[in-house]
Amino acid sequence: MSRNLVMIREADRYVEQSVTIGCWLHNMRSSGKIRFLQLRDGSGYIQGVVVKNEVSEQVWEDTGKLTQESSLYVTGIIREDTRSKGGFELSVMGVEVIQLANDYPITPKEHGVDYLMDHRHLWIRTPRQRAILVVRAQIIRAVQQFFDERGFQLVDPPILTPSSCEGTTNLFHTKYFDEDAYLTQSGQLYMEAAAMALGRVYSFGPTFRAEKSKTRRHLIEFWMIEPEMAFVTHEQNLDIQEQFITHVVQSVLANCRKELETLERDLSKLEGIQAPFPRITYDEAVQFLKNNGHEFEWGEDFGAPHETAIAQSYDKPVFITHYPTEIKAFYMKPDPDRPEVVLCADMIAPEGYGEIIGGSQRIDDPDLMEERFRQHELSKEAYQWYLDLRTYGSVPHSGFGLGLERTVAWICGLDHVRETIPFPRLLNRLYP
Ligand code: 4AD
Repeated sequence: MSRNLVMIREADRYVEQSVTIGCWLHNMRSSGKIRFLQLRDGSGYIQGVVVKNEVSEQVWEDTGKLTQESSLYVTGIIREDTRSKGGFELSVMGVEVIQLANDYPITPKEHGVDYLMDHRHLWIRTPRQRAILVVRAQIIRAVQQFFDERGFQLVDPPILTPSSCEGTTNLFHTKYFDEDAYLTQSGQLYMEAAAMALGRVYSFGPTFRAEKSKTRRHLIEFWMIEPEMAFVTHEQNLDIQEQFITHVVQSVLANCRKELETLERDLSKLEGIQAPFPRITYDEAVQFLKNNGHEFEWGEDFGAPHETAIAQSYDKPVFITHYPTEIKAFYMKPDPDRPEVVLCADMIAPEGYGEIIGGSQRIDDPDLMEERFRQHELSKEAYQWYLDLRTYGSVPHSGFGLGLERTVAWICGLDHVRETIPFPRLLNRLYP
């Protein structure tokens, strides 16, 4: 039998009307002849009030036996209720139990992280995890809206690749029939080809890095948004990035207030995220670190504590530009005035959330690109197609990659990226 169900998030449209919702029992408390059912249907939460004298004996008996996460059809009248969190309440008239759930493994008491991770398939039902996934979905919506409205085309790069983009240390190896193949670390090289065909493009897909270290910011499988733009220079690339991040943050603020409240996120930290963002060079960042008691030599890469120290001076994301050529990827264009540094930038989120974007202007000169292949010991055969992009109508072009999970961690105010993705893949964790 199909039913006309109403979603909890639409409650405001049905005030004083009788509706049926399909839902799960999140929690229940009783006070004499009244039972308060905390109901959830994925779209929201509502309190169902069961009054003994107002329902049949059967309903009273059935609700008495309900266990956490039992699945139900509940019929009742929606009432406006300013005291309740969602602003509405359901005066219950009928309850049909679909299934009485077995003893539920996740109770309101505290559980350890490993236990929760083993039960991730159930953990995502909790209000906090739901809120994070809703914010994640809104970020994705905002990303697509930003690029779609600005004439970018969505392009899907391959996941199985014959060569690396971001160095060989964390490549995920697999077999492709008799050949060696790798799960993609970044779609960038293919997006450069796509930009030469379509002008402005972006991709959104999973990327893989066999990171052997356990940190709060690294996943093995993470999702990246990678725009690539023909005829766009380093400076213009930064302008687009700050407008993009402003749009994403403001869109979450406009659409996910309730979720951010559930997460107890300090909204004042997000409200001020408006372009322009501060820009400092790598040299300036190094000087800052030295002045503040860090041992750091020009030519080293920043670690998480360095990024956090630098970010603490700002209440917006900060760009660090012009890193040493030596420590950056083979495809980055050297600064014409100072070839020992490249036209690149990392965007560091405020409050210690670390690098969320890496981007650069790309080498467009074929001779220099060949020289880089030699320096980085990349086989010319494997990258011939990439070199072709520099020999058939090469143009200045730039792009960047935004790590979705680190962005979710920052916007939601989470300590660890493991909560930012429905089923995290971490060192030593492939289950569930
Ligand atoms: O700085 P990365 O390595 O840049 C690239 O991959 C470029 N090819 C992107 C481009 O220009 N199209 O990575 C980009 C972002 C980082 O800033 C970070 O947010 C995220 O990807 N990231 C990770 N997120 C979670 N877990 C990991 N192991 C990550 N590695 C990178």
